Amino acid sequence: MTPNDAGLASHSLRAFRKSLGATANDVNACLDDLLPLPEGPERRVVEAMRYSTLDGGKRLRPFLVVASADLFDVPRTYSLRIGAAVEMIHCYSLIHDDLPAMDDDDLRRGRPTCHKAFDEATSILAGDALLTKAFAVLSSVDSHPDDFIRSKLVAALADASGAEGMVGGQMLDLLAADLDFDEQQTERLQALKTGRMLAVSCQMGGILGQAEPEVLKDLDAYGVCLGAAFQIADDLLDMEASEADLGKATGKDEAAGKATFVSLHGPGRARKRAKTLVDQAVAALDRFGDTAESLRAAAAFTVSRRS
Ligand code: IPE
Ligand code: IPE
Ligand code: MG
Ligand code: MG
Ligand code: MG
Repeated sequence: MTPNDAGLASHSLRAFRKSLGATANDVNACLDDLLPLPEGPERRVVEAMRYSTLDGGKRLRPFLVVASADLFDVPRTYSLRIGAAVEMIHCYSLIHDDLPAMDDDDLRRGRPTCHKAFDEATSILAGDALLTKAFAVLSSVDSHPDDFIRSKLVAALADASGAEGMVGGQMLDLLAADLDFDEQQTERLQALKTGRMLAVSCQMGGILGQAEPEVLKDLDAYGVCLGAAFQIADDLLDMEASEADLGKATGKDEAAGKATFVSLHGPGRARKRAKTLVDQAVAALDRFGDTAESLRAAAAFTVSRRS
């Protein structure tokens, strides 16, 4: 990269962070709307849902939904709701991931984890209710008027988040400490636990836009590569970043014997692999030309981020 390229790259990353922040604000407003506090003592579970949802995550998954849907000029009123539904699943996965039975973490997004701020039972319920609510949002006519599109969205998110997707990956993540996973098994684990949710975010934008199968395939290929790069970056940050920057505990993967590309091959090779994956993600966007600039920037952001 020449110094000029580097300047351009940092300019487009700055612009990307700005538009990620703007989408995050819109998604936050949508989530706030979708999670009203009820009266009665059961409001405690909604307080926990709101605590773990309206708390300053990057909102990368909703950004991917919105940016992919923008390729097809889908109205933002739809794509933001779909992005909010994906974020609900993501936040539920984080609440459960932090529980003592899983990663046993006390800090998330710079604040006490849900089970620290509330209690374990409330956190399990808050996760369950966010999962359920996500599908209620997808099936609502406010999220898209076309029944067929809504049912495709439901099927795609169910596939990506269940035992053949994120939950399956989390299972492998827990088993990996004892199973001595090789590179192929580790990549599969990461593709399931993280990649599927990022890839489906892109796919859902395409489903909203009624994209042709081969176009959906390219969006999926972009998301799969982005997801793999994203988890390698997460694992590198666990090793190299500070708790203050990340807003979550660091140095935990090695202590827990987690299977990561970093633990298998060290940070140098992991960084190279992540860069190759970003190049592959960008290559999958060729057909979209300039309209996919924000997705290209999202790929670069994935490996350059510090939190
Ligand atoms: C963290 O995801 C969990 C992983 C899948 C690696 P993010 O880094 O997107 O977390 P938030 O939503 O910004 O807090
Ligand atoms: C979590 O991966 C992936 C999920 C499906 C939640 P990690 O356990 O590495 O995520 P962090 O580092 O706690 O955010
Ligand atoms: Mg975990
Ligand atoms: Mg964790
Ligand atoms: Mg991690």
